[in-house]
Amino acid sequence: RRMRNLVKMSDLSKEEVYSLIQRALELKAGASPIQRPDLIAANLFFENSTRTKHSFEVAQMKLGLQVLNFEASTSSLNKGETLYDTCKTLEAIGCNMLVIRHSQEAYYQELEGLTIPIVSGGDGSGEHPSQCLLDLMTLYEHFGLIEGLEVVIAGDIKNSRVARSNYHMLTRLGAKVQFVGPQIFADPTLGQMVDFDQVIGQVDACMLLRVQFERHQEAVALSRADYHAHYGLTPARYQALKPQAIVMHPAPVNRDMEIASELVEAPQSRIFTQMTNGRFMRQAILEKLIADNAL
Ligand code: CP
Repeated sequence: RRMRNLVKMSDLSKEEVYSLIQRALELKAGASPIQRPDLIAANLFFENSTRTKHSFEVAQMKLGLQVLNFEASTSSLNKGETLYDTCKTLEAIGCNMLVIRHSQEAYYQELEGLTIPIVSGGDGSGEHPSQCLLDLMTLYEHFGLIEGLEVVIAGDIKNSRVARSNYHMLTRLGAKVQFVGPQIFADPTLGQMVDFDQVIGQVDACMLLRVQFERHQEAVALSRADYHAHYGLTPARYQALKPQAIVMHPAPVNRDMEIASELVEAPQSRIFTQMTNGRFMRQAILEKLIADNAL
């Protein structure tokens, strides 16, 4: 089937996920990416970003694309122009694809009238498909499979687009996912919280999530030290991991809250590997978008 847009993980079949992982690993191993200097990619980030924005930009440069970075703060959005009219304008002036991050959940539903494809860099507390794919790539690269892995996701489950995308796709691929965190961060539609110390020694991957102070009031009242002691990766929990287990975090990291600062680059941490993999996965996503939309 054809990937018209990539805005949520249900846009992809399991076969497409594995094919994107294989292509991203080939690119990481030195395969030449396609070269399309005739195409223009526009990046519209209405929420802050370091990794997603800049790794999409690097991926676009590696594919030879021309890159237009839309500046929301100096645009006609400030005169009341809608997201749809902004995107339709970029289409009208010749942009061939859009990468969009927006705080509104499912913002892309407003953009169905566009003829150019969209890749989502995250929609509010909805989904973060390119992060999910780079996380799956990182797991596959280490373990050689995803089916049967045991994964614990620790942190702000309720507000996390990363947790939502990863839970749904990991489960579809046959991994077992459990959650850790304070009750205020629970999402009963995904699962109940379990005790971190009961599962830490059994899991293959410990995925930590950032406490998103900007999204909700409850987080502001949390004590960093209490949070770290109950739900963070402490040196003692790191020691309890299986020797082959890996530690992941989408970043940015609140050091000494989700993870002890000294563990961010520990031998079993793959936090910076995730960022490297993100660039290659985003190249693979853009190649597929170009092919599937016959751009
Ligand atoms: N992981 C992630 O999405 O990071 P940024 O917010 O910096 O893009």
